[in-house]
Amino acid sequence: MQEKTLCIIKPDAYRAGNVGAILAQIEENQFRIVALKLIRMDKEKASGFYAVHREKPFFGDLIRFMTSDAAVAMILEREGAIVALRKILGATDSAKASQGTIRHRFGTSVEKNAVHGSDSPESAAFEIRYLFPDVQFPPS
Ligand code: RTP
Ligand code: MG
Repeated sequence: MQEKTLCIIKPDAYRAGNVGAILAQIEENQFRIVALKLIRMDKEKASGFYAVHREKPFFGDLIRFMTSDAAVAMILEREGAIVALRKILGATDSAKASQGTIRHRFGTSVEKNAVHGSDSPESAAFEIRYLFPDVQFPPS
């Protein structure tokens, strides 16, 4: 089934000039970019995006990191997009991510891991609406 997911190229990868290389790997894996924009999240926007992690010990650092620079947000479409994207991103901790994954190639720590991908149909729907409130899709 064709499915949509939300991906963010995080501030560490933006700052390091890895946007183009990451987009290339995404497109090489049959994802179609259906919306894309450069964003700069403020504290409120980032806190809402990662609200599920509000109680985690790393929440403060995560919000500081996500608001530290620009990021690139996109909606991607593919057969089984949600699981397929998580697979090419790799494990959360860049040091544990498999060879060839985006986090292995471009991440530098458990926090500065270069990319975000939605982890379920529910979070994809929420995150797409949260970052792209104006994008309209035909009913599927
Ligand atoms: P994401 O939501 O960004 O795609 O990452 P994920 O599902 O693989 O990992 P998640 O548990 O949702 O964590 C969200 C982001 O928080 C940062 N983090 N820091 N310091 C730490 O122990 C720690 N753990 C997670 C990472 O930037 C992670 O992607
Ligand atoms: Mg997550």
